Amino acid sequence: MPISGAPLAVAVGFAILGYEIEAGNGGFTGVDRGPAEVVKAHLRSIGVKSTVAVRFLSSIAVLLTAGMIRFKLPFSGYILASDDQFFLCSCSVRAYYALDFCMYTFGARRILIYNTANMYAHSLKLQSIVCAGNMEISITNVREFEELARQALPKMFYDYFRGGAEDEFTLRENVEAFQRIRLNPRVLLDVSSINMSTSLLGFKLSSPILVAPTGGHKLAHPQGEVATARAAAACNTIMVLSFSSNCTIEEVASSCNAIRFFQLYVYKRRDVSAKLVQRAESCGFKAIVVTVDTPRIGRREADIKNKMVAPKISNLEGLLSVDANADGGSNLEAFAYETLDPSLSWKDIGWVKSITKLPILIKGILTAEDARKAVEVGVSGIVVSNHGGRQLDYVPASISVLEEVVQAVSGAVPVLVDGGVRRGTDIFKAIALGARAVMVGRPIIYGLAAKGELGVRNVIGILKNELEHTMALAGCPSVEDITRSHVQTPADRLRSLI
Ligand code: GLV
Repeated sequence: MPISGAPLAVAVGFAILGYEIEAGNGGFTGVDRGPAEVVKAHLRSIGVKSTVAVRFLSSIAVLLTAGMIRFKLPFSGYILASDDQFFLCSCSVRAYYALDFCMYTFGARRILIYNTANMYAHSLKLQSIVCAGNMEISITNVREFEELARQALPKMFYDYFRGGAEDEFTLRENVEAFQRIRLNPRVLLDVSSINMSTSLLGFKLSSPILVAPTGGHKLAHPQGEVATARAAAACNTIMVLSFSSNCTIEEVASSCNAIRFFQLYVYKRRDVSAKLVQRAESCGFKAIVVTVDTPRIGRREADIKNKMVAPKISNLEGLLSVDANADGGSNLEAFAYETLDPSLSWKDIGWVKSITKLPILIKGILTAEDARKAVEVGVSGIVVSNHGGRQLDYVPASISVLEEVVQAVSGAVPVLVDGGVRRGTDIFKAIALGARAVMVGRPIIYGLAAKGELGVRNVIGILKNELEHTMALAGCPSVEDITRSHVQTPADRLRSLI
């Protein structure tokens, strides 16, 4: 049947447009080259070599996605399948059915999702399906969650969670510094029963592990901070809810009964920060953790390259709308620049104290000098932290400066540490060097991304099991039995040579 002029013209027009977009010249609403990249990778993986074919098929992919987004089609998604891998690009929630079909009909075990950044709400729905699919994962340590998270997340979000500032020296150092500390076990002590419980600000903890404040949990999983909070509660662990959460303070508070702290950023709009503290207090949060290492956000180059979209901070709805001009870089960075108060100084801790009756912990201390100042201004606790290597690069690993801070405060307030905790042995080392407890950040996010609430429970459970095991093998039946003499730092080894 001859093809009439009009449809042919439309088809040619679309083909040219698709080619242009795929070649990076297009500007179709909401579409970038991601779909084309996904399709190309797939075609290469199944051995298609012809450049023309690759270009043509990836153009169609872009066009389909563009059309779906443009016209908000009720079903929109395309799927390419090979033996056990499926690539799905979609802008529609209904693509869920397609995914479902793949998973249950063909037994897909690995699903890669691509979505354009501004369609992230949809990708979250899709991720929940991936998580629900529960693809026979057998995990033996928390590091393994990172790869699962990488598979489950759009690159932009994975990079956001994983990344550190600039050269990522401090990011790596946080982990490696733990590895340079050795253990000095004791034997023939009765370790038939191990008690990991401890206390913080008068609250009993089942183990010295807290969930660190990290922002944007809905970028990792559709249930966001509610899933994390439920997991923390199930593990009898305190969660520090981030100021930059995707679920509101109220949603998290009503999700389950548990002790929770609230992390605070001091904004230029002090009234907004004060409002959030008051909301946290009236929702029963038990302490405020003020982050003080962020007068501006660190330069995370992956976010700049990816043009990272600032996660929606639900708590700010109706309070603050920010017009952040990213100038082609990270929108998150631009948002932080507009909102964070760079003039914050020691006297302002007095202001934080004046807006709440809750105890204040200060997070982001790395020197003895600042630790002493923190005690002077009357904080109730210190978190030794370099913000997971995301702020100033080339600062030392938190575990390397923990002891100096502990000595400076000489027991006046409890000291916590975060950054690089991946093993029960790391927690043991931190306790031996004087920490009351550790806070865990990225592994929690990776668990959440991989398996939702269950994943977070797995992460905390694995760390607890490993700590229990370490305590038994090191001859420490209780947390109080873990002492400085149970560890050997690089400085100790140097001293022993002199
Ligand atoms: C926020 O605190 C971040 O590190 O992205």
